[in-house]
Amino acid sequence: MHEDNRTIDELIASHRPGYALDQRFYTDPDIYKLEIDRVVSRNWILAGHQSELPEPGDFKVLNVANESAIIIRGSDGDVKAFANVCRHRGSLVCLESQGSTRRFTCPYHGWMYDIDGNLTAARSMPEDFDKSEYGLNKLSIDTINGLVLVCFSDDPPSLDGAKRDLAEPMSIFDIESLKLVAHKEYAIPANWKLSIENYQECYHCATAHPEYAQRHTLMVDRRKRGPLQDKMLGKMDACGIRNIEIDRIDKNAPPGEMGYGYSRTALFDGFLTGSKDGKPVAPLLGDIKDYDGGASDFVFGAFSFLLVYSDHAVAYVFTPVDIGNCKCDIYWLVRADAEEGKDYEVDELTWLWDVTTEADKTIIANNFKGVLSRYYKPGPFSGMESAEKMWTEWILQELQRD
Ligand code: FES
Ligand SMILES: [Fe+2]
Repeated sequence: MHEDNRTIDELIASHRPGYALDQRFYTDPDIYKLEIDRVVSRNWILAGHQSELPEPGDFKVLNVANESAIIIRGSDGDVKAFANVCRHRGSLVCLESQGSTRRFTCPYHGWMYDIDGNLTAARSMPEDFDKSEYGLNKLSIDTINGLVLVCFSDDPPSLDGAKRDLAEPMSIFDIESLKLVAHKEYAIPANWKLSIENYQECYHCATAHPEYAQRHTLMVDRRKRGPLQDKMLGKMDACGIRNIEIDRIDKNAPPGEMGYGYSRTALFDGFLTGSKDGKPVAPLLGDIKDYDGGASDFVFGAFSFLLVYSDHAVAYVFTPVDIGNCKCDIYWLVRADAEEGKDYEVDELTWLWDVTTEADKTIIANNFKGVLSRYYKPGPFSGMESAEKMWTEWILQELQRD
């Protein structure tokens, strides 16, 4: 291959609509840096559910590329986020991934911070040292029906539209009062965009995910899905599930706002939920009266997705680690009053998306290996990759936003 001297702007301008991205979008450190600055740091990332942090002092850490956030329920009962960076010389302050604490002690020289981010102790500092000026840096944080979102920018996109328009579908499943019962982090040796591109298309489902493909009709074409979709729509009313469709995703987002979406798709006959045998794996969510044989897809911004069956919900968050590595965090949620061992078993609940994500890990890693080759050339998207096409175009748009 000849040397590519195109600038990033030239590279973006030469992108062929309907085709995959040029190799340099997966390998060029300058593009990766630009993505972190203009896409990853400027947008909301799902950090979990408020049920993970029931009491003041309960915390978890969210790591994204070079950033680390401490998400904690403060002394006033509100969930807050702080940069996990000591104000002395910059060490990570909290090395645990989650827990409950009354204070954080920096492991380097022992500066101490309370659960509201205030610096409370710093040994041997001069008399006139003003601790009040050295609290942990606050990050943008908000919640949508109990889902916690964090942004590594002081000027994040507005969540008004998402809060307003998703309120109704989220209330059907009472997302706000769910409880998180399992979380797993999957390390994927690939550029982060490949993992989100993969999540957004089901062209690969028939070949890579036999378990998923037996349950979800998303992988069959509209003509074949039609009768099953109609059957689900016919049942929804009696089940207490309203028929809503929202597409303000990516380039369809209102100006200055985070993109969002909602839709519900039929499962195959015999499957009430995403379980091994098709039978329920937890009690019905919210005020749902019966199984309609469907599953809902919520989209929150560019990195976060929520799949809601009638009896449980699964959230997926894809974030970069470095240019050639990313991770997928998966969270499983059930209704708050469900009891483990009686109403649900974690193994049954997590089975489908654990096998599916393990398979995705492999295909995404193989995709990245091929993309690194001198023989890689962007190929055309199929008709089943329209969401991925939209997402890649949104990425290119955001990279040019100053
Ligand atoms: S870097 Fe934290 S106390 Fe020195
Ligand atoms: Fe997949």
